[in-house]
Amino acid sequence: MAQDVAAGKTSFNKCLACHAIGEGAKNKVGPELNGLNGRKSGTVEGYSYSDANKNSGITWDEATFKEYIKDPKAKIPGTKMAFAGIKNETEINNLWAFLAQYDKD
Ligand code: HEM
Repeated sequence: MAQDVAAGKTSFNKCLACHAIGEGAKNKVGPELNGLNGRKSGTVEGYSYSDANKNSGITWDEATFKEYIKDPKAKIPGTKMAFAGIKNETEINNLWAFLAQYDKD
């Protein structure tokens, strides 16, 4: 499936109130999202996760992220992420393309 990073950046506006990404990104309401690809859930230093997120046993990658963002509370029951999710597959695909650009800084 073709990926549109620019569209993914626009989609990330839905996350920006709670998440930062990129150089110098800090934890906000939610943890910073640098290096998400390959990162174990609940492991950003200095961020206070729910037990549900911390203990989910998920490693974030394309497959687990796409499942999660469709319906966060279904993938991680008890998560404190107050976000209904994104249902559109194309949008999710583009959002992943945007996020996957950011390696650990
Ligand atoms: C956690 C992504 C929108 C608040 C997470 C995690 C991911 C993520 C991947 C797990 C991080 C980890 O395990 O280190 C996204 C994306 C969003 C989005 C891509 C937009 C499409 C939001 C919004 C809010 C929010 C709008 C606030 C209203 C949180 C919180 C957590 C979290 C509080 C921690 C959950 C917990 O500890 O239970 N998010 N998020 N997120 N997010 Fe989001």
